Amino acid sequence: MKVLGIVASHRRQGNSEVFVKEALMGAEEAGAQADIIRLTNFYIEPCTGCGRCQSGRIPCHIQDDFYRVLERMNASDGIILGMPCYFHNAPGAFKLFIDRTIAVGYPNPLHGKPATVIVSYGNRGFTSYAFSQPNLLLHKFGMNIIDQALIQAGAPGDALINDKALGRVHSMGKAVAAAAKTGDMTFKGEKGLCPVCHDRVLRVLKDMESVECPTCCIHGKLRIVDGKIDVVFTEADINKGRFSEEQWYRHHMYHVEPGREYFQATKELRKERRGKYSAYFPKEEKGIVVKPVAQEA
Ligand SMILES: Cc1cc2nc3c(=O)[nH]c(=O)nc-3n(C[C@H](O)[C@H](O)[C@H](O)COP(=O)(O)O)c2cc1C
Repeated sequence: MKVLGIVASHRRQGNSEVFVKEALMGAEEAGAQADIIRLTNFYIEPCTGCGRCQSGRIPCHIQDDFYRVLERMNASDGIILGMPCYFHNAPGAFKLFIDRTIAVGYPNPLHGKPATVIVSYGNRGFTSYAFSQPNLLLHKFGMNIIDQALIQAGAPGDALINDKALGRVHSMGKAVAAAAKTGDMTFKGEKGLCPVCHDRVLRVLKDMESVECPTCCIHGKLRIVDGKIDVVFTEADINKGRFSEEQWYRHHMYHVEPGREYFQATKELRKERRGKYSAYFPKEEKGIVVKPVAQEA
């Protein structure tokens, strides 16, 4: 049984690397064969939005390392994902990778396998969306996130001298290996507000009584009990989350497919209207659009 550690930080010997390696040591102790990749060593281009892959049947046309990373992930029985928090969120290198997974269909080889997420951060109160992107990716792949940790480790090497955190991630790694072996995907971390991704970020909807987990798209009802906020999610709410097989199917049937039909049906009209916009600022120099200088007669 193989557990893959993914380090999504450019910083060599940085906190994410130390935490992922410590977690892998835990996984090895629990009988796993450890593998590791540094996402930032792979050349991943941005998604160009060409839309050709969106059926999930045509692979992405970009020639880079995207599929190499995916193959390493798919060959694993469990994943330990570590990254820094950048601007309250995931770092750009990780987002680049996520965007490219639009070419990945459902289900995929990672479906049902365990994963754990470790985010290193510097400043309390600057981490609100730290889990959103990793949760989106791993849930999109149908993985079971069995734990997640947000650990303060700002300066290079902080991870090395935080024994409590090292102990925590060591057991997180062990748990991934154990889950891969036994199939017990029970969530081991601190339960948050969303019953699926356990994040605490909720969006208040316009009716001013419902809330939504922006990652999972689960709607619940907000209420105050004894002066405290409570959120009620029913089983039906949970089943309507975007990561269920049914919702994936609905998304394709009612959004992606009709979108494609509409695109085909309006192709000529697009062609007619394109001219106006390609004639306006027609030249691009070094990535900057330049307005044409009026030519003398
Ligand atoms: C560009 C950049 C943005 C950052 N933004 C945040 C932030 O929004 N919140 C935070 O708590 N720490 C932030 N940090 C600090 C990192 O999360 C912290 O140093 C982390 O330990 C780096 O992990 P690493 O050593 O694995 O790269 C930022 C650091 C950088 C370089």
